[in-house]
Formats: sequence, structure tokens, C-alpha cells
Amino acid sequence: MFYATEDINSFLQRTKKVLAADANDFAVASNIIEYLREVIRFHDYQYYVASAPLIDDYEYDLLYKKLKKIEEDFPQLDDEFSPTKRVGKGLAKDFEQVAHIVPMLSLDNSYNEEDVVDFDRRIRELSEAENILYNVEPKFDGGGISIVFEDDKLMRGVTRGDGVVGEDITTNIKTIRSIPWQAAFSKYGIKTIEIRGESLIKKSVFNDYNLKRIEQGLAPFANPRNVASGSLRVKDTMEVAARNIEAMLYHISYAVDADGNDLLGTKLTSRHENLKMLHSLGFQVPWEEHKRVGTIAEVMDFIHSWGERRDDYKYELDGMVLKVDDIKLEEKLGATNHHPRWAIAYKYSPKQAKTILEEVIFQVGRVGTITPVAKLKPVFVAGVTVSSISMFNEDFIKEKDIRIGDEVMIERAGEVIPYIASVVTISRDGSEKEIEFPTHCPSCNSTLVKPEDEAAWRCLNPVCPAQQIEKLIHFASRDTMEITGLGDAIVTRLMQEGLLKTIPDIYHLKEHKETLEQWDGFGQKSIEKLLIGIEESKTRPLTKLIFALGIRHVGEGTARIIADAIHNLDELRDWTIEQLILLEGIGPKVAASVFEYFHNPATLAIIDELKAMGVLTVHPIKIQTNADGKLAGLNLLFTGTLTKFTRNEAKKLCEAAGGTVAGSLSGKVNYLVVGDNPGSKVDNAKKLGTVQVISEDDFLAMLNS
Ligand code: IVH
Repeated sequence: MFYATEDINSFLQRTKKVLAADANDFAVASNIIEYLREVIRFHDYQYYVASAPLIDDYEYDLLYKKLKKIEEDFPQLDDEFSPTKRVGKGLAKDFEQVAHIVPMLSLDNSYNEEDVVDFDRRIRELSEAENILYNVEPKFDGGGISIVFEDDKLMRGVTRGDGVVGEDITTNIKTIRSIPWQAAFSKYGIKTIEIRGESLIKKSVFNDYNLKRIEQGLAPFANPRNVASGSLRVKDTMEVAARNIEAMLYHISYAVDADGNDLLGTKLTSRHENLKMLHSLGFQVPWEEHKRVGTIAEVMDFIHSWGERRDDYKYELDGMVLKVDDIKLEEKLGATNHHPRWAIAYKYSPKQAKTILEEVIFQVGRVGTITPVAKLKPVFVAGVTVSSISMFNEDFIKEKDIRIGDEVMIERAGEVIPYIASVVTISRDGSEKEIEFPTHCPSCNSTLVKPEDEAAWRCLNPVCPAQQIEKLIHFASRDTMEITGLGDAIVTRLMQEGLLKTIPDIYHLKEHKETLEQWDGFGQKSIEKLLIGIEESKTRPLTKLIFALGIRHVGEGTARIIADAIHNLDELRDWTIEQLILLEGIGPKVAASVFEYFHNPATLAIIDELKAMGVLTVHPIKIQTNADGKLAGLNLLFTGTLTKFTRNEAKKLCEAAGGTVAGSLSGKVNYLVVGDNPGSKVDNAKKLGTVQVISEDDFLAMLNS
């Protein structure tokens, strides 16, 4: 662990102190600015490397904005190594070619235990050593990178390139928050150091990111590796920063002192110790993920245990790497032209399976996007049977030249959605048919259009039945209005029976109770459950409602941004596109779509009717005007996924009632308000003994008491 417990406490105190300081005063500002930067670096480390954040996004934002403001107000205090410079505006320069200090070789591959035993035998023969220690660690599946520090400062980041020459991607590397910009290598007598690693993206982040792209009509990425390696070559630094790329560093390829003496093999003699050093300097390294062992039996045990849990691991990995620990021995063993003799990769069998593409159907999404879906001969891959798989859009099909009847390779990694990785073209016999993209909507037959800057064809008919079903399913789903009892099948049936056409019809269903009672297989209990679920959905937070409406380009994140900016949904009827663009995180495309929605009589009628049926279109905060002082002097902490209000609303509610919101759990917290899937905070609060654990409803009851 990089920071000791005392450091953590002192940093938490510092956090409070810098937040309270008067940033408008030059003397104070110049006094605290370095302090403030240190605090932010500390919280970056906690969040991005230790995965143990101690403050919430809101507090982090305050720190960040405070620093940004000081730097703007007093340019003489600015510093190119300030954490605010991570997300530079503008474009990266053309990526210049630069030579690596030491060439980046690739690794020899092995696929079974015999290969590993052979590797071990060769090393023992060449070295004549008795005892050999090996480090075993995951082989991360991302993009190879190399970074150089000089005089404790991050100077350069380079892609792997051809191994000898790569591209200078320093600006983009600097957006990776798990890489510190400053690290005390001088403490170890190191002046210049070259470190190797991998750019990565979490599987969960990758999935969210792709969903967002699909929503925006952009082609999704095929797999995490492509995003992790491709993103660092994107010119728009803001875009790179938005992708949440991370880095895992696993190898020191070069290290010299101030006199140019090589430290590898002299002062730095063990790979395990090197990892420890990088770890203690605040880098993300495979520390928990690696093991130093002395026998091949132990090596294989560790490889197999990772093989079993690799699907649950946050990053994709395609194998394990086995490396000699002793750097002197490493130098003795040397390398061939392609790979070192002191390391070998053990590749897990790829999570791929071959099958036949039997048919293609075209699905209509809730905003009219047409998605080609491949119907496959069912095949078992990485734990599930796959028979239907999205091909995203026309470009994907063309690029891979996928044809009906083709033998295709399906790939699936962890929770990542399966996709067609490639076509086995040598299996073709000429009977395969090209996939013809429809010109008309498969549901309503209106002519499809493809906007110039988008990858997807769309049906623009606002009353297209297929879109309508998808819109209703989305409205009722868990991420939006969470209407229990109103799943996909029920929505479809209600539509077929003519009881549902538009969103507001949901709230009229209670008028059709008798009709529902006549239905086969729909008992009294299910009907009750459905009607209660519908009633309960009327008070969902504004964020959820905005997302639920299915406004084009408005996903969960955008909905939150909009909800936070308004008190009442009706305000949006008066907002201009310019006003919308001023919101951070909203671009012209999204703004135009929101504007259109709130100026279209048809969609406004939907909102009017929802309101008339009692659906809440204002923040709950507005109806809590009598809560003054109810929480005076109390300190509350919120945890888990809040379902009745957003975090921001919770904060506003709490503060309006005289309470304060804590950033982390401590003895000062009076109440821990618990949402869904709360995690470890609840147990910790119980251990403290002084914190009352309450539900969201308890919290609202306190306000209204
Ligand atoms: S060691 C000379 N360790 O795999 C060997 N490489 O196929 C230095 N990789 O270019 C690299 N995880 O991009 C090493 N734990 C790990 C790795 C790893 C992924 C990549 C790396 C390398 C490629 C070789």
C-alpha cells in the first residue's frame, strides 16, 4: 500500500483544510496550492490505483474546481505538472516517431504444461543455477506502452510500435490517472527510467462506453483491447480522457543513475523487488495479481487458479507470464531476435467458437436505429450458449465481409457481449449470400435514412410499432422507471391487445383491470403487483424520468446532467439550444435533440398527460419545503445506488434541512443512508457502533416528521 494509515488521516484533514481556505486571497492561494495539488494526487491514487476512494465525486469536484480557479486567477502559480493539466483541451500533435531506449520484444508463447517444463529445463541448463525463482503474473490484453521518467518527472509516453520505434503519445498518456506524473525515483538513486506496461480499460467501463456509443448512433468497439490500444492514438485529448483508460505497469527495461551507471542487475536485482518499488511509488502494478514461486508445480497451480477466475477479473487477460526473478540471471540468459529467454507467456485457450451464420434479421430500436442481428447455429462459448448476436451496423458487416451461410468465429470475454470476431473465409464454397441491408423499416415499412455522420440506418416514423414497443419496454425497465410486473413479455402482450399504445397508457391500465382479469395466465396477484408497481413508479427521481422518456441521445449520464440543472421538467420548454450546450457534458447534437423533444407538440402531450396522471415531474426537493432544520447539526452519509433521489438531490435535501453530507465514513457520521447494493460501508458502520443505518424511506420520513 502506497500511503500509510497516518498519511490517510492527514490527507483527509488536509482535504478539509484546503476546501475551507479562501482561494481568492493570493497569499492564501500561493500557500495552499501545492498542498491542494498533493491532496488531489492522493485522491487520484486512492481512486485510480488503490480502488478505495475516500471522498465522493462531489467533493473531488470541489477540490478540482478550487485548484482550477486558483490557477486561472493567479497564472503565476500555474504549473505544467498540475493535476488540472491531465485533460488538456485541443488536439494532440501528430504523433512523432521515437525510438525506445531498449527495444520492446515480444514474448514466446506456450499453451501447455510441457512447454513450461521445457522452458524451465532450458533455463536451468543455461544458468547452471540450483534455485530459480519465477514471478508469475497475468498477461494483460491491452496496448503495449512504454513510459520514461527523468528526474522524478514523467517525460514521455510511447506506443509499442514495431518494438524498436513507437509513436510519441505523451499528451494522451498524461490523461491516464493511474499513472502519476511525479514519482520519487531519486530516492532509489534513479535518474532515468523506462517502464513497460499495458494500457487497459475495465470490462465494465467498456460495456457502458459501448452502450453510450450505440445510443449516439456510433459504431461500438469490438473488444476492450481495441479501445485500450486505439484510444491512445486518438488526437482529441478530451475524448481520450473521457474514455477512462488505465495502465498496468509490469517491467523496468532501463534504469540509470546520475552518472549514467546501469542499475539493472547491479542495484536493482530482483523483478519482484522492482514491482514492489513501482507499487510503493504509486503506480498500478500486478502486485496482488502476481506470485513469486520456486517450482513449476507452483507456477502451474497459480496459472490454473487464474484460469478459473479470469472472467471475474476487472480487465481482460489472455494468459499468464512467467519471468525469471533474478535480473543478473536474466542478463546471462539474454534474448533471441524476437523474445527474451527469461520469460514466456502461457496462453489460455481463446474464448472463441466456430459456428454458422444462418440468417440475419433487422431489429428496430426505440429511437428507430436498425440493428442487424445474426442468427447462429447455437454454439457454446465461454460459459454460455450463443444463438443470436448483434452485428451493430452495416459498416461492421462490410468491413468483415460477413455473408449468410458463412462459418464465423464468435468471441466472448468475461461479461463482454459476444461478437463475430472473424469469418473463416477458406470454408466458403460459393453458396454464401451477401447480406442485403433493408431500404424500408421491417416494422412499419417507411423509408430508412442514414445521416451522414452516423453509422446506423434509422426509421424516422414516430408511430412505428416496433419503436413503440421498445420505448415502452425502456420506460418500464430497471434502469428507468423500474415498474415491477411490467416486463418485455407483458408490454408486448398489452400492446398486441391494444391496451398500450403510448407511454401514458401505462398509467391508465388500472381502468382496464376487469379486462386484464379475463386474461389466461394472468392472475389476481400478478395484476395487483403490476398496478402497485405502476403507482410506485410515479415518484421516481427526475433523472430516471428524463432517461425513461427515451429522448434520442439522452442516456443515463446526460439525463443526470439535465436533471441537475432544472427544478421542473417544464422549464425545458423554454430552454434554447445555446442554454443546453452551456451545460458541461452536453454537445450540440444532444442539445438539438433535447430541444426538439421539448418543442414537439406530440412529445409535450406525453409529458402533460404523465403529469395529469400524477407522475412527478419536479425534484422531490421542491415538495419538501417544510423540512427546515429537521437535520440541524446532523451528519449524513449516503451509500449504494439511491433509488428515490439522486446523490445531488440527497445532498440538497439534506442541506436544506440543516444537515451536512459526509464524504467518508467516520465517527462523526450520525446516519448512514443505504440504497441498493451498498457494499462494505454498512458493515463498517455497524462496527463503529455510533452510526445509525437507515433506508432512503427513513431519510424522507425524517425530513417530513
Ligand atoms: S513482459 C520482453 N508482462 O505482451 C518482455 N508483457 O507478447 C517484456 N504483456 O509486448 C514484457 N502483459 O505488451 C510482460 N505481465 C506482462 C504482460 C506483457 C501483457 C504484453 C506486452 C508484450 C506482449 C508480448
